[in-house]
Amino acid sequence: MKKVHNKKYLFSLWQALSFFILLIFSPDYSFASEAREIYLKYRCIKCHSMKSENIEPLKEELLKGKKIIDHSGVGLEYDAEWLKKWLLKEVEKDGEKHRVKFKGSPQELDTLTRWLVEKKERINPEEIRKWYREIIGRQ
Ligand code: HEC
Repeated sequence: MKKVHNKKYLFSLWQALSFFILLIFSPDYSFASEAREIYLKYRCIKCHSMKSENIEPLKEELLKGKKIIDHSGVGLEYDAEWLKKWLLKEVEKDGEKHRVKFKGSPQELDTLTRWLVEKKERINPEEIRKWYREIIGRQ
């Protein structure tokens, strides 16, 4: 009896393990984590956040009172081609270009913009402000 039980246990352990291995090696997962790394590496979080992905803006920038723009729904407004040009300061919005020019490689820009256009979550601005206040208030 005991042996059967052990076998079952081992089987579900194996199932759980293979699930995680598949997840980690799935192209979607590595693409998203690579894009996230690029977003952090080029310091987008100095001026932006992404609540839907739980990517916080830098607390020091919030403390300075800097206006942060959240990117949870950025894909509802722009496509990848426009975003690429925007990040390279080749297009204007309301008569202005982006504050900083993207310094990474074309592949990084491609990964970053493909990931950004997937972000299509509408979040209430009040909820975002509340989240920023929580970050500021945290030790
Ligand atoms: C020094 C501050 C700063 C940094 C760093 C920065 N941005 Fe921005 N970004 C801005 C400002 C300010 C705007 C708003 C411009 C406007 O609306 O005219 C903006 C707008 C945008 C927009 C348009 C969003 C919208 O809804 O209007 C996108 C997309 C964007 N930034 C992506 C990025 C990415 C990706 C990075 C990192 C590679 C980045 N930004 C880094 C300041 C910054």
